[in-house]
Amino acid sequence: MEKEISQAVIGRLPRYFRYLGELKDNGVQRISSQELSSLMKVTASQIRQDLNNFGGFGQQGYGYNVEYLYQEIGNILGLNVEHHLIIIGAGNLGQALANYLNFEKRGFLFKGIFDCNPALYGRKVRSLTVQPMEAVESFILENQVDIAVLTIPKESAVEVADMLVKNGVKAIWNFAHVDLNVPEGIQVENVHLSDSLMKLSYNLAKYNSQPT
Ligand code: NAI
Repeated sequence: MEKEISQAVIGRLPRYFRYLGELKDNGVQRISSQELSSLMKVTASQIRQDLNNFGGFGQQGYGYNVEYLYQEIGNILGLNVEHHLIIIGAGNLGQALANYLNFEKRGFLFKGIFDCNPALYGRKVRSLTVQPMEAVESFILENQVDIAVLTIPKESAVEVADMLVKNGVKAIWNFAHVDLNVPEGIQVENVHLSDSLMKLSYNLAKYNSQPT
């Protein structure tokens, strides 16, 4: 049976992937866990523990092969396959995401953008054209869409998510401030920028309250 990897470890993998990608681009071929540790400001033992979940990848006295580790972590993160995404909600956030090119470099291809506001139909967002919600169902099927990005208000997010799942969407990147109720097997990743900001605010308050 495959070993269950904790979400905390999964949550750290994209950061490893980013750092290794940069090292690779800079021509670095191998790195010790100590070097990676000081670069990433994570303990070397944490790195070893994290990577041991996947068989380690390191060799005693050699360290890590950057290219290999980069590819393997990419595979673990499912980046070795292309994903087809649609954005639901072509407002400020939906358009900003559609305009961000780096997702495509990682294999996340935005195929369509949809909205319920007729004033937006036909508007160009990079290479995409805003389409009415009525076109979503057939679009999902025809374009093998596996991920939907929800950038709509919370009031309609639950209902829209249900419809997307019924039509074959397997994962939802949810920016609406509401918990979705999806069947088992459907993956949801909630993103709340304000949570991150509140964490920053906490750390700021804590730092400021320390005696100098
Ligand atoms: P916006 O008002 O610019 O865009 C929302 C768009 O969704 C509009 O174009 C609207 O016509 C469309 N829409 C509304 N109901 C719909 C439905 N049932 N089907 C299809 N389209 C629908 O708002 P903005 O700034 O883009 O934010 C979008 C949502 O994301 C908001 O609810 C906001 O609270 C949330 N948000 C979440 C953040 C996060 O970190 N999770 C950060 C910023 C915004």
